[in-house]
Amino acid sequence: MKAMVIQGPNLNMLGIRDPRIYGPAKLETIHQNIKQHAEQIGLEVDFFQSNFEGEIVDKIQECLGQYDGIIINPAAYSHTSVAIRDAISAVNLPTIEVHISNIHSREDFRHKSLTAAVCAGVIAGFGPMGYHLALQGLVQILTELNAIKEARKQAAAQNAQPQQ
Ligand code: DQA
Repeated sequence: MKAMVIQGPNLNMLGIRDPRIYGPAKLETIHQNIKQHAEQIGLEVDFFQSNFEGEIVDKIQECLGQYDGIIINPAAYSHTSVAIRDAISAVNLPTIEVHISNIHSREDFRHKSLTAAVCAGVIAGFGPMGYHLALQGLVQILTELNAIKEARKQAAAQNAQPQQ
């Protein structure tokens, strides 16, 4: 199982940016911890960060056929980007949205996420641990999807057998 972790604008500034909201950890450290945890639960992960909406759209599209699922923190684009929402919807891969802070306890404009509705689940307010919860959620979803696929395959194989 393979997942892409996509980080939106200004998340490259973690560690420097508003540490009281986002904590002291740098993005690099957060990624190292995610990788370690992912390995332990049988998930291969790659990482991508961009401050550009179009690059994030491109990366989501590239995931099709290459990855089983996506973990994304679209950051400020969560609240504005129809393009990122449409890309997530278009690739139709199980996607989990993560916010380090609790967007619902902050300014009104952060309460609405345009991207959340096309994601399988949303995790907000747990700090960088949210990415770890997302890993576990994604593995759970992928395991269930694989079981459904396997059951369908077996049913199709049985139906293909000549009737006695
Ligand atoms: C964020 C919340 C967004 O509102 C904000 O613009 C970010 C980070 C979070 O992880 O808490 O850049 O997505």
